[in-house]
Amino acid sequence: MLCSINYLHNKSQQSFYLCAMSTLNEQIQVLTAEINAFVPQNAAELEDFRIKFLGTKGLVKSLLGEMKNVPVDQKKEAGQMLNAFKQTAEAKYEALQNEFAGADASANKIDLSLPGTPTSIGTRHPLRVVENQIVSIFEKIGFSVATGPEIEDDWHNFTSLNMPPDHTARDMQDTFYVAQNPDWVLRTHTSSTQARVMETQELPIRVICPGRVYRNETISARAHCFFHQCEGLYIDKNVSFADLKQTLYYFVTEMFGENTKVRFRPSYFPFTEPSAEMDISCTVCGGKGCNLCKHSGWVEILGCGMVHPNMLKNFGIDPEIYTGFAFGMGVERITQIKYQVNDLRLYSQNDVRFLRQFQGIY
Ligand code: DAH
Repeated sequence: MLCSINYLHNKSQQSFYLCAMSTLNEQIQVLTAEINAFVPQNAAELEDFRIKFLGTKGLVKSLLGEMKNVPVDQKKEAGQMLNAFKQTAEAKYEALQNEFAGADASANKIDLSLPGTPTSIGTRHPLRVVENQIVSIFEKIGFSVATGPEIEDDWHNFTSLNMPPDHTARDMQDTFYVAQNPDWVLRTHTSSTQARVMETQELPIRVICPGRVYRNETISARAHCFFHQCEGLYIDKNVSFADLKQTLYYFVTEMFGENTKVRFRPSYFPFTEPSAEMDISCTVCGGKGCNLCKHSGWVEILGCGMVHPNMLKNFGIDPEIYTGFAFGMGVERITQIKYQVNDLRLYSQNDVRFLRQFQGIY
């Protein structure tokens, strides 16, 4: 019908040679059928298709180049056919390209039905675990929590606790003073919170005061420049040493188990009279003797006593009507005994291997 052309696809040279064999019409029909039947298996095959049909030396270009040989009266018809052919090749290529791009995109698509990556939420710090245990044991018998500032003034940390400026008992605790104000210290004990409670709360008072305290100590396995305490204070009419003993005995059996024995040794604290230190039977060896109890069978866990009348007077409480007991324990010490932690530095090193051991303990 029209001019006769044929093509030879020379893949290696990426070029196509046309030669006259059949009509342009027939040729286009054959090529259109090929385009329609083309199903690439991968992006590389699609790229071959593009080069073959739409490349700079591709069939569309070559056939369009043949237009010059078409007689003038047939140019219009030939032109329309070639345009249609070009559009078919382009449309096919674009459709397939989208399909492959779509496949790529869906490979990267988020599958919303998959379970999420769990976020690690860490664990409670062992000291917080034990502090919570101490607090909840005392909450059960009617104590409520009170807190105070870590930067404390001399009055609440020392003087009101029956330790005037020249009192030798101040040397029992190596104090960090705050450079900006000679009256300020980093509190050396949570007894300062006792003082604040006596200053502000109505009687009777029954509080437990957890918190961080500071002392100017060289850091070692057995000492640290900051640690944690829990203070207890009970003031009411007719509070006796027997109440103190029974309360602490209750605490020990709750914390360490029913078979734990207690003993009280006379001691000295300026803010209590009489004062005592309480030991419990060693939880590791049961009293037979081990490293924790230094082969004595007993471990010291807290200081306590009856609130000194001078301290009551300092806060306008009449010691003839009211009496009270107080105690203070180190949270690190309780944790060391309960969980056999033998180096104080572990608490502040943030080593997850240490901290993870307390996972699930509340
Ligand atoms: N504040 C004392 C200390 O840090 C501990 C203490 C002993 C607290 C006896 C008390 C107490 O409330 O009555 O060593």
